[in-house]
Amino acid sequence: MRWWRAPWSQPRPPPCCGIWGSSFRRPPGRWPTTSGPTRGSRRCGTPGSPHTLRPHTEAPGQSLPPRYLALHCRTQATCGGGRTLLADRRHFLTTLDEDLQRLAHQHPVYWPSYEERPDAVGVRKPVVDRAPSRTVIRMSSTLLRVGAYSDTLDQPTADSQPLGPGGVALAERAVDFVETGGTSVLIPEDALLIWDNHRIFHARTGFSDTRRRLTRYWVAEPAPEGTP
Ligand SMILES: [Fe+2]
Repeated sequence: MRWWRAPWSQPRPPPCCGIWGSSFRRPPGRWPTTSGPTRGSRRCGTPGSPHTLRPHTEAPGQSLPPRYLALHCRTQATCGGGRTLLADRRHFLTTLDEDLQRLAHQHPVYWPSYEERPDAVGVRKPVVDRAPSRTVIRMSSTLLRVGAYSDTLDQPTADSQPLGPGGVALAERAVDFVETGGTSVLIPEDALLIWDNHRIFHARTGFSDTRRRLTRYWVAEPAPEGTP
């Protein structure tokens, strides 16, 4: 097994580099396919949809989204599609004008939960959530454009767009940036690509080779020392 880090990652490996060792903690029982962890790590499905995926981060509706996202490529597409596109929020934000910067930092967006249970509520956070201890980017260019994580609305209205026309402009800028300023990776078979989900947003090109198989992992930060 080989693993790759995006080229802008920290000079030393992130704490989850032991993913194949003892620090990769698998909870007992079956792996849920939707809900994200508050700690530990979880395999959360095999993204099999062949469609283009617009820029997004994982689980933006969680109060603290998973820190790292890992993709393990089992069978890669041979059609030229299925590339993973990665973009650094720090570089992206520098490309925005003052109005979009303000929108991204100051205006809360309701990010629905992925989880299908009655008490699952999302969070209201700005696209760039700055806290003293960390900065987290939440991105779903589809949500900003149509008000949902999938394109269910043919004609989104101003009411459905959580940040209005400015949010749509932000979503379009994210699409442009990931295509022109992002890093494009075709993950080799039997390799793992891992990145910081609080800092990087990602997209994926569509593909026609349906033999493609990747497994996605959400990886939380290690629990503080002394936590049972
Ligand atoms: Fe994703």
